[in-house]
Amino acid sequence: MKLKTLTQFLIEQQRLENALPADVRLLIEVVARACKTIGHHVGKGALGNVLGNLESSNVQGEVQKKLDVLSNEILLEANEWGGNLAAMASEEMDSVYPIPHAYPRGGYLLLFDPLDGSSNIDVNVSIGTIFSVLRAPTDSAGRDITEADFLQPGTAQVAAGYAVYGPQTVLVLTVGTGTFGFTLDRETGSWMLTHENIQIPADTSEFAINASNLRHWAPPVRRYIDECLAGKAGERERNFNMRWIASMVADVHRILCRGGIFLYPWDAREPERPGKLRLMYEANPMAFLVEQAGGAATNGLGRILEIQPGQLHERVSVILGSRNEVERVTRYHHEVDTQA
Ligand code: AHG
Ligand code: MN
Ligand code: MN
Repeated sequence: MKLKTLTQFLIEQQRLENALPADVRLLIEVVARACKTIGHHVGKGALGNVLGNLESSNVQGEVQKKLDVLSNEILLEANEWGGNLAAMASEEMDSVYPIPHAYPRGGYLLLFDPLDGSSNIDVNVSIGTIFSVLRAPTDSAGRDITEADFLQPGTAQVAAGYAVYGPQTVLVLTVGTGTFGFTLDRETGSWMLTHENIQIPADTSEFAINASNLRHWAPPVRRYIDECLAGKAGERERNFNMRWIASMVADVHRILCRGGIFLYPWDAREPERPGKLRLMYEANPMAFLVEQAGGAATNGLGRILEIQPGQLHERVSVILGSRNEVERVTRYHHEVDTQA
């Protein structure tokens, strides 16, 4: 069977009416190339001197790993000169990164989590890169891009995707016409379309949550997980299985491949914080991919993609995956709300 390359796929998408402007196609190719480079460094591990921590921490106060910073630099360098972007923003940078004046400026904004799953880097477990593409507001032409220009809801995303660096290196992408997966052919260096129009089954018996936080969960999450754990003898009348990789990319990838529900909900450890994961470069791109694959993504109350961000590094509660399960957890949240 002859597989399509990412380039072929993108050119075909470009030919579809209104599906993909040429400059978005080019910028996706550049992001994909940067992911290939990151994957190459990840694969070298201790031999490439890329493991371990740096002395620094990022804007969210998290210790930075060498690979967090290296991946951020690779993405910036690859994307700054192509002429398709007006600015970039990243988990690893306090504020926005405008395209240097030496290069032409384009009409798009790129956001990324350069290395997702940092706690897994040094132990050789799957990690990844997550990205999201927005349009620069039309009124931003001729002036400096600010953080406010990035504060668009996830529904405004033009494209989103992730690369997972695991036993295989896989790029999963949406431009709003479905969700597609490409496996890196390590011999030829090409991304090949191996996962056509991914569909998440509406039902599942597999959940993913960090159960060590159980005592801090809100009642609707507690109720949902308790019912899963009760198995055949309980309310759900069937047994559930659990997986938690602690790399969102890898957990979401499993869900795209075989279904499941992923939760990183609000919890009472830091009650003023809406969740752990970041809205603009973790939750939004994943929510877009999951919805395009027939799944659902909410913060317990409403669609993640409809949240109006107030800050670049805003956090959010995340519940995503198989539609019927996500709807159930969301319903449990609403039931508590109406009783209150
Ligand atoms: P990052 O490495 O970009 O900071 O993200 C890690 C995130 C996410 O990938 C994962 O689902 C979650 O943190 C794991 O958190 P716990 O260690 O609390 O399980
Ligand atoms: Mn992350
Ligand atoms: Mn990260």
